[in-house]
Amino acid sequence: MNYCVVGLQWGDEGKGKVVDILAENSDIVVRYAGGANAGHTVIIGDERFALHLMPSGAVRPGMACVIGNGVVVDPEVLNGEIEGLSKRGISLEGRLFISENAHVVLDYHKQEDRLREEALGKNKIGTTARGIGPCYADKVGRSFAIRMADFRDMDGLYNKLVQIAEYKNKILNALYNVPPVDTESIFTKCRMYRENLLRYVCNTTRYLHEAMEQGKKVLFEGAQGSLLDLDHGTFPFVTSSNSSSLGMGAGCGVPMKMIDTFIGLVKAYSTRVGAGPFPTEQDNEIGNRIREKGHEYGTTTGRPRRCGWFDAVAVAYSARIGGIDEIAMMHLDTLAGLPELQVCRAYRIDGHETTFFPCDAEELSQVECVYETLPGWDADVSGITQYRDLPTEMRHYIELIESIVRTPITILGVGPRRSQAIFRNRS
Ligand code: IMP
Repeated sequence: MNYCVVGLQWGDEGKGKVVDILAENSDIVVRYAGGANAGHTVIIGDERFALHLMPSGAVRPGMACVIGNGVVVDPEVLNGEIEGLSKRGISLEGRLFISENAHVVLDYHKQEDRLREEALGKNKIGTTARGIGPCYADKVGRSFAIRMADFRDMDGLYNKLVQIAEYKNKILNALYNVPPVDTESIFTKCRMYRENLLRYVCNTTRYLHEAMEQGKKVLFEGAQGSLLDLDHGTFPFVTSSNSSSLGMGAGCGVPMKMIDTFIGLVKAYSTRVGAGPFPTEQDNEIGNRIREKGHEYGTTTGRPRRCGWFDAVAVAYSARIGGIDEIAMMHLDTLAGLPELQVCRAYRIDGHETTFFPCDAEELSQVECVYETLPGWDADVSGITQYRDLPTEMRHYIELIESIVRTPITILGVGPRRSQAIFRNRS
């Protein structure tokens, strides 16, 4: 089986854990979009791994890890992750493959990201300041982009950097009046990146096709969530890549028809980091309670996440655009102790009910949620391994969501560990 795992909300759905579980039956794990803005947490025994660029499967010894062409690679972060894993006895030698076509995030991208957000003031997107938008903008603009393949020719890279710095400095100076990009210091860092990373750089499209022809099983790991997708998310409050499953083909050169099962990930409630409309947000005691119980603070930035009720309209939309076959629902344990739970089953727009998600940020900010109210549960479910042993109220909650989203919920997360997952009706 080849799987693609993708978040169906605004990111942070718990992909690290699900990818780690599914990786047990896979040979290769592939990241296809986003960059170091992502934060995937994997907990194994007493060890906690927070990964930003490395596919979550990296913590499994022997697993091949691919960083596809659709990813924007911050070499400093990637290098740090390789070293960090190595210090914990996990070597990537011979099993990490970075696309030669992946674009490179350099210091000036992070600077541009930060300065643009500062200049936008209250209209800012609330980015992670990891240089993601500016790097993708350079990719689309083509003339001032650096790719991993450029580390093969250091003279050529130096000449490109000089040209890029000349262009960027005019803009940075005119708009923000900041000190110029220092080509020499960036180039010095690039020498180190070449030294540490070039041996992993290759044609990953070819690698993947050859491996799949040999029958290797591949797990494609999305980053962020479908509602942050550049084209299909809540624009402009989105990330700069196709973070839904639609980005998979373009982001690694493998067609979507090669996937047997698309697994969509959700949390049992909703969260969002950064600005943008969030219809079911609970900016109150309920939201605070979910945040504290679910440790809802960003893995990458540490920012408190906005929390709210489960939005079945939004998830049904993500499942529909992403061709999702099954859903994994994480963090069910976090909802324990709330006397009542609400699920948004429709929106009211101008007095009319609709179950179709309007992804335009302006339109979405006007909707009124139509909720279904259910009784909560107060049991510790963290040790339960069978669906039938879950509290009746929890099963009703899951089954109601399943009926609205019209997609089977087959994996249930009842705690952060690998073992704390219940499998139900696996197809
Ligand atoms: P950027 O991707 O850093 O440009 O940020 C754009 C938007 O996407 C902001 O609202 C971020 O908070 C959000 N975002 C980016 N990456 C993640 C993630 O991994 N989880 C949740 N939100 C994210």
